[in-house]
Amino acid sequence: MPAFDLIIFGGNGDLAARKLMPALYQLDRKGHFDRYSRIIALSRRNFSQDEYLGFVQDGLKQHLPGNRIDERQWRDFAGKLHFRCLDAASGSEWECLRILIDEHSDRIRVFYLAVSPDLYGAVCSGLTGNDLINRQSRIVMEKPIGSNLPTAELLNDQVGEVFSEQQIFRIDHYLGKETVQNLLALRFANSLFEPLWRGQFIDHVQITVAEKIGIGSRGRFYDGTGALRDMVQNHMLQLLCLVAMEAPVSLDQDDIRNEKIKVLRALKPLGKETVQKHTVRGQYVSGALADRVVPSYTEEPDVPAKSHTETFVALKVEIDNWRWANVPFYLRTGKRMGEKRSEIMVRFAPVPHLIFTSEEHPATNHLVIRLDPDEGVKLVVMTKQPGTGGYHLHPLPLNLSFARTDYPDAYERLLTDIINGNPALFMRRDEVETAWDWIDNIIDGWDRMKMRAEQYIAGTWGPAGADLLIGRDHRAWHNNPL
Ligand code: BG6
Repeated sequence: MPAFDLIIFGGNGDLAARKLMPALYQLDRKGHFDRYSRIIALSRRNFSQDEYLGFVQDGLKQHLPGNRIDERQWRDFAGKLHFRCLDAASGSEWECLRILIDEHSDRIRVFYLAVSPDLYGAVCSGLTGNDLINRQSRIVMEKPIGSNLPTAELLNDQVGEVFSEQQIFRIDHYLGKETVQNLLALRFANSLFEPLWRGQFIDHVQITVAEKIGIGSRGRFYDGTGALRDMVQNHMLQLLCLVAMEAPVSLDQDDIRNEKIKVLRALKPLGKETVQKHTVRGQYVSGALADRVVPSYTEEPDVPAKSHTETFVALKVEIDNWRWANVPFYLRTGKRMGEKRSEIMVRFAPVPHLIFTSEEHPATNHLVIRLDPDEGVKLVVMTKQPGTGGYHLHPLPLNLSFARTDYPDAYERLLTDIINGNPALFMRRDEVETAWDWIDNIIDGWDRMKMRAEQYIAGTWGPAGADLLIGRDHRAWHNNPL
């Protein structure tokens, strides 16, 4: 990788400690960084260089896989870290940053916005006002980009005034996950699936992102956000796009993004008339998880006792185009569910005529693309149960496991792409805004219909309404995989 300066606004934040520093440490450990590259961490709070190194080291100890830091590696990495105190909203400290980065005026400069979106405008004007943007500059925006369409447009405008679309990297870390990329390989490098990948042969698709964790220390942020904005607007819609899109002409950034946006545009709007039938909101109440009682959402720190924010959402989504007419996509995500599981399940249609008369309702083929845990793909096929006494059908999985410990984390891959200037795995402005437009309708529908969150017990698969949502269509959630 060429030498670069990575400038992190919000260098003392949760994202830096949990995701960015561990990923950067790993990339450095694997020898990807030029020895003169620099990581310049900025924060409003003043740390000494040693204090900052202590902060990073603590983060690595907690969040590195295996929690092991190699002493020699750490010294190399620490040599690349430079801390500076900077308050983006006040003018005075920008000069220090300018002096530091002007030492290498032609090198790649990545400005990473790991701060609250309220500060994006101030950071961008600081960057132009102090002449810090060179030809090789890029800027990284983290999700959530806004909280609805107007706020997303405002943030995109603020950043877009200073950087061209080509220089803007909007992160959705799901796009950096190994299995998500494998989905493209599965669909477009095999002739096996694509002919079947359409309404005629697929009964429905389920996308589940279930988490065991609650909201931790993010109560204030989460309560103003909720599961729909936190997970569906970005991660889940991105997964849906990759499952549903047409084959792109190439892997070039805009070829993939052009296909994804067509899917977003074809989503049937869910609004006041449909939210009650096609959406479910849930909120967890105290329950047992891994033999430990966890509190209700409204007892979490910084959450108001009467909060109605949803920590679970389930949706029935339809895509109005030729390929997917009449094929429902059921989406669900929640905190404090019984297990951590992220997967896409494609359920194929039953055979047109069943010759095995012993079976009334045989199971059907399905393909499970598992993101977490145990990344892999499983194709369930029907077989004959061994033995005498006629045909008894039996579903058996063909397993393809990708689970390995040395895969790069999503942030490692995304940071590499940012530094190398490859935006294919990042969201384009129109994708983000089209997704918000669709999500805003749902929120508006919830408000108008006064749709409250249904309670569910922590450690379960969500509220009863979610089973009803899919059960009305005579289908069931894929809770018990083979
Ligand atoms: C983040 C959400 O974008 O994704 C979190 O803000 C969520 O609420 C996280 O926990 C899930 O990511 P992963 O990679 O653990 O599935």
